[in-house]
Amino acid sequence: MKKHIAIDGPAGAGKSTVAQKLARRLNYLYLDTGALYRAVALYFWQNHLQPPEIEGLPFLLSNIKLEVSWEEKFRIFLNGREVTEDIRQPEIDALVSPVAKIKEVRDYLRAVQREIALSRPSVTEGRDIGTVILPDADLKIFLTARPEIRAYRRWRERKDKGNNIDYKLVLKNVLMRDFIDSTRDNAPLRKAEDAIEIDTSCLSIDEVVEKIYELVKN
Ligand code: CDP
Repeated sequence: MKKHIAIDGPAGAGKSTVAQKLARRLNYLYLDTGALYRAVALYFWQNHLQPPEIEGLPFLLSNIKLEVSWEEKFRIFLNGREVTEDIRQPEIDALVSPVAKIKEVRDYLRAVQREIALSRPSVTEGRDIGTVILPDADLKIFLTARPEIRAYRRWRERKDKGNNIDYKLVLKNVLMRDFIDSTRDNAPLRKAEDAIEIDTSCLSIDEVVEKIYELVKN
């Protein structure tokens, strides 16, 4: 059995849903690394900091305590307060990629991610898990889908939660984040050489989970 599974890919490719289902089926830990970046972005927002403002950043980062839990669902805590829902606000959607570009933030979160992901068998999802965070992962998956499909999924997800946001705005945010994430110098979004790419445009969640599950077992 493969113990450390890395799932990377752009926004809306289905990473979170697939990774959570897979982790449940395997009884592994699930780690949403995007939530860690979002929590740091929330901290920037709460403290009225604009990226790439980095004066005093090491001090600020040393004041951040992030904790996660994976029981009935994935939850995240910033300095002891649960922020699982707060990090999904549109303000944070807009702020997170500029914050995630900052080298000091990535260096800080790299250690946090490794410590959590290696604490037990895990499914870790993000943008640079197979390339930077867990280069020795036992299985690396790169999930993709066409941008319009990814934006539609994200739009429907928000709508189901009662958030009536304009589809065009969602598509714009998805494309903007794709651009920032894949062109940044530091740990850009890209497929690791040894990752298996799965295009989820025409696949159901369960079909994707099944495919990866078979790869974990064999
Ligand atoms: O919206 P979605 O769930 O696709 O994104 P996310 O996983 O919550 O990640 C939000 C943002 O955090 C990404 O757009 C990246 O800018 C950044 N991120 C990153 O740089 N590296 C990671 N391993 C995970 C997220």
